[in-house]
Amino acid sequence: MFLSQEHKWNYERDGYVLLTDVFSPLEVKLMIRAVESGERVAQTTHGSADASGKKARLALWHELGDDIWAAASTSPRIVNAVRILLGEEAAFFHGKVMLKEARSGGAWEWHQDYGYWYDQGFLFPRLISAFAALDTATIENGCLQVLRGSHHLGRLDHGRVGQQTGADAHRMELIESTLDRVYVEMKPGSVLFFHSNLLHSSAPNNSPHHRRSFIMCYNALANPQLGERKTSEQRPVPVGADECILQFA
Ligand code: SIN
Ligand code: MN
Repeated sequence: MFLSQEHKWNYERDGYVLLTDVFSPLEVKLMIRAVESGERVAQTTHGSADASGKKARLALWHELGDDIWAAASTSPRIVNAVRILLGEEAAFFHGKVMLKEARSGGAWEWHQDYGYWYDQGFLFPRLISAFAALDTATIENGCLQVLRGSHHLGRLDHGRVGQQTGADAHRMELIESTLDRVYVEMKPGSVLFFHSNLLHSSAPNNSPHHRRSFIMCYNALANPQLGERKTSEQRPVPVGADECILQFA
């Protein structure tokens, strides 16, 4: 995997960059196995209702741990791309498996991740997500949608939409008519790196195909977090060996 200067420029201009074949078919298969039978996903899964009441289910943790999810989150393919795109050293913030399951997965309302994370005390929006597709993601099964360049808007006001946090609906009308909406269709093993102020959403999954993904989130090591309980590890994210996911075969 190679991140070029052009990738970095695209990230700065658009707020995201999509890399294909970051994880191999075998690595994806092992992650799917960990979704279906692994302890961490089973223990931390909860639902978050969208505006229509349909549940978008996810499993989220703040500790790296020592399982396949830690191996992916410390993979040099991910961490080095994160450092280059952030432009500085990174700390692990959290990992989450998004379980947008066939015929039942709910929507995610338009939001910026920093709309959530600002309230968790992060001073600057110097955070990034690496969204790895575990299943093929298409328009039909509710792939991620992004508004190109929306990270340049800065942080918008967010409020409650169902049980989720959504960007100000009135302002969203004008933003949606101004910026390009991109449906990010992805092959398993592809990774979308996106800025914490990029507006994104996804439709419910009414199709017969699962659309599961693993999202690794990082904070700039030098980005302070207010408050007593730090949710971001205050140390550089460790970098494992390139083949470390395969030890879970
Ligand atoms: C989704 O999986 O559709 C939403 C992901 C996110 O909000 O980060
Ligand atoms: Mn998000």
